[in-house]
Parts: sequence; structure tokens; C-alpha cells
Amino acid sequence: MGTPDQENMAIQMVGIYKYFGPYCALENVNLDVKKGTMHAILGENGAGKSTLMNILYGMSKPDAGQIFINGKLLDIKHPKTAIENKIGMVHQHFMLVPTFTVAQNIMLGKELTNPFGILDFKKANRVIEELSEKYNLLIDTKKKIENMSVGMQQRVEILKALYREAEILILDEPTAVLTPQEVKDLMLTLKTLAQHGKTVVIITHKLNEIKQVCDFCTIIRRGKNINSVNVNDYSEQQLVSMMVGYDMDLKINKTKAIPKDVVFEIDNLTVLDDRGIKKVNNLSLKIRSGEIFGIAGVDDNGQRELVEAITSLKKVSSGTIKIKGLEIQNTTPQNVIASGIATIPEDRHKEGLVMNFSVTENLLLKKYKENPLSKHGRLNKQKINDFADSLIKKFDIRPPECKKRLVRKLSGGNQQKLIIAREVSEDPDLLVAVQPTRGLDVGAMEYVHRELLKQRDLGKAVLLISLDLNEIIDVADKIAVIYNGNIVKTFESAATNENEIGILMAGGGK
Ligand SMILES: Nc1ncnc2c1ncn2[C@@H]1O[C@H](COP(=O)(O)OP(=O)(O)OP(=O)(O)O)[C@@H](O)[C@H]1O
Ligand SMILES: [Mg+2]
Repeated sequence: MGTPDQENMAIQMVGIYKYFGPYCALENVNLDVKKGTMHAILGENGAGKSTLMNILYGMSKPDAGQIFINGKLLDIKHPKTAIENKIGMVHQHFMLVPTFTVAQNIMLGKELTNPFGILDFKKANRVIEELSEKYNLLIDTKKKIENMSVGMQQRVEILKALYREAEILILDEPTAVLTPQEVKDLMLTLKTLAQHGKTVVIITHKLNEIKQVCDFCTIIRRGKNINSVNVNDYSEQQLVSMMVGYDMDLKINKTKAIPKDVVFEIDNLTVLDDRGIKKVNNLSLKIRSGEIFGIAGVDDNGQRELVEAITSLKKVSSGTIKIKGLEIQNTTPQNVIASGIATIPEDRHKEGLVMNFSVTENLLLKKYKENPLSKHGRLNKQKINDFADSLIKKFDIRPPECKKRLVRKLSGGNQQKLIIAREVSEDPDLLVAVQPTRGLDVGAMEYVHRELLKQRDLGKAVLLISLDLNEIIDVADKIAVIYNGNIVKTFESAATNENEIGILMAGGGK
């Protein structure tokens, strides 16, 4: 056993190095996490947070460094070793079997048997239910994963780790996909875990979450340790400044919009989902050039189907969608783009990017047929390189020499910057932004917000759809609340507040 100090520590990562080819993603990084505490890892997109945690969980091999768990030196080559040493991890993309029940998923790979070697479902169910109750997870163990919300699935992942007797729980951006209420519930669960002596390591970009629930915070910048601090001793502003390396002003100064003509109009739109259920129900809205029109709402109130109808990924059953007077409902995605609509989609991996194409190729996706990048069917390499260079520089896509890098190797924030660079460079009349800052660090988030405002001031119409109410309030000029597929009310943003909108979002005020 190690020194008493070491025994107080659940995790000690010492001198960790990680290279991806010549690129040094982690350079001599140290991490000390005390037992029974909640410890945040803070850093910009691409700083190396996920890489560090993947190393701890045995999913990635460090090029140098040591890991001590409870003072004991371990060689964690595989997640199996991590699990054996009571380390659990909740990934951002869940790894559950959709057609299995909660109990089946949790037991998978750790089946309990009775003395005759036969699966003991009863016993396993009991253990799972006890855990669910102890940590206030409120899970119906007989329910199938495919019928559960994202927030519930995340609880199943937590329960799965606890069933494997995890003492250390790592969560990689667990709140990026949750509604505000789900975030509150998760924070409560994590607090309870820490109170029971478990150690929680959480990667998050949300400073208020760090301030509210975490004890300590380790800040990483571009693969290097910057500081490890007691959260109480620092303000949000100070944490951000350490993260980015300069004094960053968190507030954006929004100037007043100068709206002009209506460019985009939806009238009495109804859209059904695949099972024939009305998801958008007789919805109407108008957006002017020079304004940001925000739609606030709880997840699954028709936002997804509305966007799919606008982009012609889904047929509408009645109503019209017009851009500059031209009807575009039930046409093709190509026609929608050609008519002047650009989209920052919700799912950047599936809809926004070709992950196995390079940065340049992704920047070029919509433009490769256009003069001067292409002439008489031939691509002009020099022009294409210049085009990519200028967007990478203008939109600060990192690392700066990423032109030939496959997009799947970029960090989340940089992938999002790439999409925005491409869509904005289309010079659209309407920019549709769906959850544009999900998973982004505060610097990148601020960047995206400023970019939306800039597009507005260039006279574009901007439709912002987000589950993050703060984002809508900060950025939008008009705020519409969507509930059950319909817009229940539209406000000038200056004339309302979080409370009023929150009530309408939850179906109140009717
Ligand atoms: N498999 C890989 N191959 C090459 N480079 C990689 C690979 N995985 C990560 N990187 C690079 O290592 C750096 C750190 O990535 P990592 O995913 O750890 O960042 P992060 O801090 O988690 O960022 P985010 O907040 O965007 O999730 C990034 O520059 C990324 O492009
Ligand atoms: Mg990450």
C-alpha cells in the first residue's frame, strides 16, 4: 500500500502522455481525485478530456504515465480491468441493447446464477431494484430500452455500473443530451452517490453544474494541466479564464434586431410521425430577415418533425412552407438548399458530416460543383485548398493544420465549427440552427452565438431550435413556445422571462 495521502485518493494519474501519430493530445497530465468527492474536468473542445478518461477506463492506451487506484498501481489495458477494479463509465453515446429490458441490459455479462448454475433473474431483479431505490433512480426494470427517454437510458447506464459494484463513476458530458429537469435529477443522483462514498468524475462544459455540485475541478488546456482547484474558491468567470488562457467575457452584448421583410413562412403545418401520430399540429410562424426566431420547448414536442418538414426529409400532410414566397413543402432536400435554406442539424454525426471524409471534403460537400472550385467538371486543387484554409482560419477550426484530417478525429466542438463554416459560407436566406451548441465549450458556444447574431445582422432570417432555454433567451429576438406540436405563444424576447416560458413549455398557462 502507498502513503496515507495516496490512500485518500481514489484516482491518481501521473505523467500521462498520449500521442495520435505525431500529435500530442496529452502531455505530462496529472489527475488526483479524492475518495467520495465529485470532481469536474474542464477544458475546451479538443483539450483532451475524453482521451484522459478513456485511458482511465482502459479504452485507450497511454504512451507513458502511471495510474494508481486507491493507492495501487494498475495496468488498465482493457475496460474489463477497469470494471474489475470498480471503475464504471457512462459514455455520451449509450451502449445498451434497445430490444432488451432494463434488467436484461444490466445483467448482460454479469449474470447471477443460483446454486444449480441456472440464471437467477429474480435475485438479479431484486438487486437492481434495491440499487434503483437506494440512489433514487426510479427505474422500471421490466421496461424495454427502446421505449425509454434519453434521460432514463442514462440512468440505466449508471445503474449498470453500480450493479458491477463501481466505486468510481466517470461520466463524459452526461448533461449535454438532457432536458433541464433531467439535469436536476442527475445532479441529485450524483450527489447521493458521493454521499455514499462513491467517487464521481464528470466532464462537463456547463459551469453552473460545476459550481453547483462539484467539489474539485481540474482544468486542462491543449493537453496540459493548468490547475486543480477547490470549486468554492473560484467564480465561473475565473474557471473559464483558466480554461481558455485569457480573460474571457461570458456575456454577449446583443444589439437590437432590425427586422425587415418576412422571408420564411409556415402556415397551418401538420406532420405525422412514422406511426401516423400528429407531431406537428396546425403550426404557423413567420420569420423576418434580420431576426432570430427561437423555438423553446421540451424535447419531443414536434421540433424534430418540424425541422424534417422544412428540410424535406419528411412529407407534410397539410399546410405550406414558403421561402421568399416559394412553396417548398414536400420537395427534395436539394431543392430546399437551392432555395436558400442552410441547416446546422441536430445530429452532427449522422446528418451534418461525413465522418470518414477529410475536413476539406466536408467543407466542400455543397460547393464542389461550383466555379471557381470546379470548372468544366474539373476540381481546381489550389482554389479548393485556399477555400478550406480560409474557412479553417476564419472559423478557428482546430488544430489549424487539420485540412487533410478525417473529420471523425476532430473534437466535437471543432466538428460543429466545421458545419457552421460550411453552412454559413452558403450565404443562405434562412439559417436553421438546431441545438447548435450542444456539447460545445463556453468559448465555442459564445462563438456560435455571435455567429448567429452576425448572420442576423447581415440580414439573414435565423430559426433557432434548442432545448436549452438559456440559449434561446440569450440569443433569440422572438421566442415561440412549442408544446404538443403547436406554437402556444410568441413573445418579443425582451417582453418575457424564463419563468413564463418554462410554464408554457410544460403545458401550463392554457
Ligand atoms: N483517435 C484519434 N486519432 C487522432 N486524433 C485524435 C483521436 N482522438 C482524439 N484525437 C485528438 O485529440 C485531441 C483531444 O481529443 P478529445 O476527444 O480528448 O477532446 P475533448 O477534450 O474530449 O473535447 P470535446 O469537449 O470536444 O469532447 C483532439 O485534438 C482530437 O482531435
Ligand atoms: Mg470529449
